Amino acid sequence: MLPNEPEMSDPVYILGGGSIGLLLATRLAPVTDIVLIRRPGQHPPRCQLTLQEGELTRQIAVAQVGADALAEPARRLIVCTKAYDALAALRQLGARLPADASLLLMQNGMSSQEEILAAFPQAHIHAASSTEGAYRPAPNRVVHAGRGITRIGRLQGQEQDWAKLLCQGGLASETVEPIRWHLANKLRVNALINPLTVLHDCRNGELLEQPAARAAMQRLGEEADAVLAAAGYRFADSAFDQACAVAARTADNISSMLQDARAGRRLELDAITGYLLQLAERHGVAAPTHRALYQRLAARA
Ligand SMILES: NC(=O)c1ccc[n+]([C@@H]2O[C@H](COP(=O)([O-])OP(=O)(O)OC[C@H]3O[C@@H](n4cnc5c(N)ncnc54)[C@H](OP(=O)(O)O)[C@@H]3O)[C@@H](O)[C@H]2O)c1
Repeated sequence: MLPNEPEMSDPVYILGGGSIGLLLATRLAPVTDIVLIRRPGQHPPRCQLTLQEGELTRQIAVAQVGADALAEPARRLIVCTKAYDALAALRQLGARLPADASLLLMQNGMSSQEEILAAFPQAHIHAASSTEGAYRPAPNRVVHAGRGITRIGRLQGQEQDWAKLLCQGGLASETVEPIRWHLANKLRVNALINPLTVLHDCRNGELLEQPAARAAMQRLGEEADAVLAAAGYRFADSAFDQACAVAARTADNISSMLQDARAGRRLELDAITGYLLQLAERHGVAAPTHRALYQRLAARA
């Protein structure tokens, strides 16, 4: 083992006790030491979490600490905040986050990963692209609403077997290479579906039935294809075909962005459409439909 390399006996810290944070805390606590990092403030040293899947519920006790009260360095850390909070949440850990910590980033989109790579150049950083579905109906309760798969790959530093840990916890997971391709593949679908569901206040499948929404989706797809091709990504199908297939498969779902909009929460728009627009500018490709959509939703927020 190299000096300072995290040992498997180091606890796994989970930053952010939201839907994905509680899902991972409850699934991984039976197989490894877990410490849940909550917002700064006073927290009892342990909390009783409830994991619900279908009719089954389980109580799991997990250690927890406020982000301002960590006693030990967090050498293995899974970042489970929203994309727009991730960098600030890591920075608030200060000296309790070793420069060469091992991080797994669970965020949707692609902007927070780039910010964290730039801010922590010595950290061993992996990113995940997950299709698990979870929500948190109460502060210490998580519903595992839909089983999916979590694809994990290295962005920087040494390889760590995060996928094995998730599998031990009963979550389907695999190591993939390159993870950026998987993040971009999810981003192109999210960029076509999520903002439009907010604009039309509709379920995923309705985008296929409303002619105006479907036409917008097609324009967004052509622009996304051009931007991602200019950035070096190659896909076997078009963004429009892929998004239509996902919208049909998840026809009754309310997208995560529409759930956030309806709950009055900030949207992960910068991580998805904002990132695509950054790529468009960097590579000199026009993306007027994405820009107009971004401006409309940003103005709404
Ligand atoms: N939910 C899913 O099924 C799912 C599936 C795949 C991917 N994802 C992605 O995973 C990420 C997290 O999603 P989520 O649904 O779990 O979001 P969420 O329910 O909003 O959870 C985020 C949590 O982070 C906490 N947080 C924010 N800043 C913090 C800080 N500085 N210190 C400590 N905690 C902090 C928030 O605290 P407060 O509650 O106090 O704001 C919240 O509990 C997103 O990028 C999402 O797109 C989610």
